[in-house]
Amino acid sequence: MNILGIETSCDYGGVVPEIASRDHVRMLLPLIQQVLGEAGIEKPDAIAYTAGPGLVGALMVGGGMANGLGLAWACPVIPVHHMEGHLLAPMLEDDPPEFPFLALLVSGGHTMLIAVRALGDYRLLGTTLDDAVGEAFDKTAKLLGLGYPGGPALAALAENGNDKAFAFPRPMLQKPGFDFSFSGLKTAVMLEVRKAEAAGKLCREDVAASFQRAAVDTLVKRAIKAANSQGLERIVVAGGVGANKLLRKEIAAHFDGRVFYPRMEFCTDNGAMIAIAGALRLAEATPADEIKVRSRWPIASLNVPRPAH
Ligand code: KG4
Ligand code: ZN
Repeated sequence: MNILGIETSCDYGGVVPEIASRDHVRMLLPLIQQVLGEAGIEKPDAIAYTAGPGLVGALMVGGGMANGLGLAWACPVIPVHHMEGHLLAPMLEDDPPEFPFLALLVSGGHTMLIAVRALGDYRLLGTTLDDAVGEAFDKTAKLLGLGYPGGPALAALAENGNDKAFAFPRPMLQKPGFDFSFSGLKTAVMLEVRKAEAAGKLCREDVAASFQRAAVDTLVKRAIKAANSQGLERIVVAGGVGANKLLRKEIAAHFDGRVFYPRMEFCTDNGAMIAIAGALRLAEATPADEIKVRSRWPIASLNVPRPAH
């Protein structure tokens, strides 16, 4: 079965909603034509689209296109939750994780730990109280004069830095529970950069390496503690920050169970993860009708009712 996945959530900071929506209008149809051409498919058997969370204007473009094409092609259309797409992305690989697992979802807009017992059985264990971790990467990168999105550039800069040059805080690690907070780390980085700039001896590589180490330490310790507390032997790392090499290395080094990831290009936002989530939820597909999009959408609301475990 061939499923077309349309991802237009734009669920990160730094974009101008109106411009992003207009760009989606301009580019979506040619992109779909190109993708179908490259895949050698005239028309798919179903269409999955991101219905939220995200920027409503951009979501409407994807939802409208999906339903319009569904009507024209007389094929089912499946609304997909963006974060469910991220957490199911490793299912695209040859060696997919079995349920249950802990999902560490780390993107530009979200930082979440979710106990995943089955498809549609999601318990949010922890989330960020302020900035998302990807946002902290992006803001630190901006402070260091790197372009947007800064995560990959910051990680590259960090490779040549000393990660012990600055003792940045590991926020929340002393606190019980599984929530995160990254605004204190962001402020600490800003103060050190200002101080070093004033003294005329800013080593950007060292700042990048020390920041990355603090952020990764926090994610790894929190995720492993959450998995162990729930008796979960598998961790799935997904979302844009899941492409971070240090994060992948450290979590594998410290967790006793197995760690799964999507390949790099399926970590950051992509249509394939929406297509696989749509494939797994095909039973819920409807003929094209109403365009469902939501800017806010708690992932636990996807849960299908089942007996308590
Ligand atoms: O999942 P994603 O593509 O978009 C959202 O749904 O937010 O994640 C984008 C985020 C950005 O903040 C970007 O800087 C970050 O992922 N990112 C990284 C890396 N690659 C992307 N952060 C750290 N290291 C990376 N290698
Ligand atoms: Zn995303």
